[in-house]
Amino acid sequence: MHQITLDDLLSQEAIQNPCPFYAHLRMKEPLTRFTDIDGTDAWLVTSYNEALALLTDPRFTNTKQQVSSQQDGQRALQESTTDEEHTLSAGNMLSFTHLRPLVAKAFTPRRVEQLRLRIQQIADALLDAVHRQGKMDLIADFAYPLPITVILELLGIPGEDRQTFRAWSQAIVSTPNDSEQEEVRAVAHKELTHYIATLLSTRRKLPGNDLVSDLVMREENERKLHEQELTFIIFVLLIAGHETTANLIGTSMLALLEHPLQLQVLRDDPSLIPVAVEELLRYTAPVSTSGPRWAREDVVIESNVIRRGQAVYVSLVAANCDPQQFTAPEELDITRQGNQHLAFGKGIHFCLGAPLARLEGQIALSTLLRRMPHLRRASKTEQFVWKRDLFLRGVTSLPVTFSI
Ligand code: HEM
Repeated sequence: MHQITLDDLLSQEAIQNPCPFYAHLRMKEPLTRFTDIDGTDAWLVTSYNEALALLTDPRFTNTKQQVSSQQDGQRALQESTTDEEHTLSAGNMLSFTHLRPLVAKAFTPRRVEQLRLRIQQIADALLDAVHRQGKMDLIADFAYPLPITVILELLGIPGEDRQTFRAWSQAIVSTPNDSEQEEVRAVAHKELTHYIATLLSTRRKLPGNDLVSDLVMREENERKLHEQELTFIIFVLLIAGHETTANLIGTSMLALLEHPLQLQVLRDDPSLIPVAVEELLRYTAPVSTSGPRWAREDVVIESNVIRRGQAVYVSLVAANCDPQQFTAPEELDITRQGNQHLAFGKGIHFCLGAPLARLEGQIALSTLLRRMPHLRRASKTEQFVWKRDLFLRGVTSLPVTFSI
């Protein structure tokens, strides 16, 4: 049976130009065996229909403990240690499930819509800061600071800590290549957890008008939340809330610059922005792979037996370019209708922040297009460095000019 490695999935070919890479795998079979980060055998889903089925299949869980707790003592004990590491990593937002209702109401489309004005102000201020220079790195100067400022403000975290957060979060979400990177990640993890603990204790004493204060108050009034649970919620929101959206903004703009006709259509009719953002979510897949799902029991899919306890990942980028679901999937079509992309996942773990991400994406693009009519890549020949990451898809920098 065909088996690929993590290195295959992290090759520049697969990351930069995913449609042909995954078409090749999908043609062989809808489920591909691959070697997981920890060296164990895992599965990768590459077809749209199987992706949809798997993400909504109750025989799979994203909490490894639920599988391991049924296994015998010694093994369960060993696995719970790895699970704790998994739990706080961005690739899989594990035991978030039972905490989700506590935060969900802060992210409804109605609540998020109230942030529109503030997000617009932040976007404008970021462009004001670079306007006279006539050039910027669209990633460092705009795509990152926009969502991180929004999520920090929402949580009530001082803006001056923004740079430190970016460094922590980058270290935490990266797929480590060696023990040195593993160490950097562990340190960032520890520092961020410590920062959150201090924040919680400050907000307990002096609550403000922010999400962290809300959660702390709720701990006292409604339901006792453990310190660990609170830390986990904030940790997940901080990490999930900006790396992803930064990728959406950066890679979407890159895609538009590489498709000048599409860009022109959008400039001519900005009312297309919401539809265009859906297509850009499909096309760029800022979260390229779902977190792992572990089989609670042996499951047969398309004559493959997935053993109980084995991990299955859904390649969202592959599902988003499955020709069975999308006409000419390799083409960017900002007017595409009925776009049922899986960029935000599906089922009970569907992205909690989707309304916020959509709004930020729409404001970011409309502001760039409106204020920078001559935006172009600083160099047409420059090769972009794509992040070598299984979960997050984006470029590390995007130098542009915008002579006015
Ligand atoms: C989950 C994508 C922005 C918070 C997810 C999942 C995907 C995703 C694919 C499901 C992962 C899985 O099934 O394993 C994205 C993309 C974004 C984005 C593409 C931006 C373009 C955000 C933002 C927030 C957020 C802005 C919060 C402020 C979350 C949370 C979960 C999640 C909390 C876990 C939900 C659960 O397990 O119940 N996201 N996300 N995301 N996302 Fe997002």
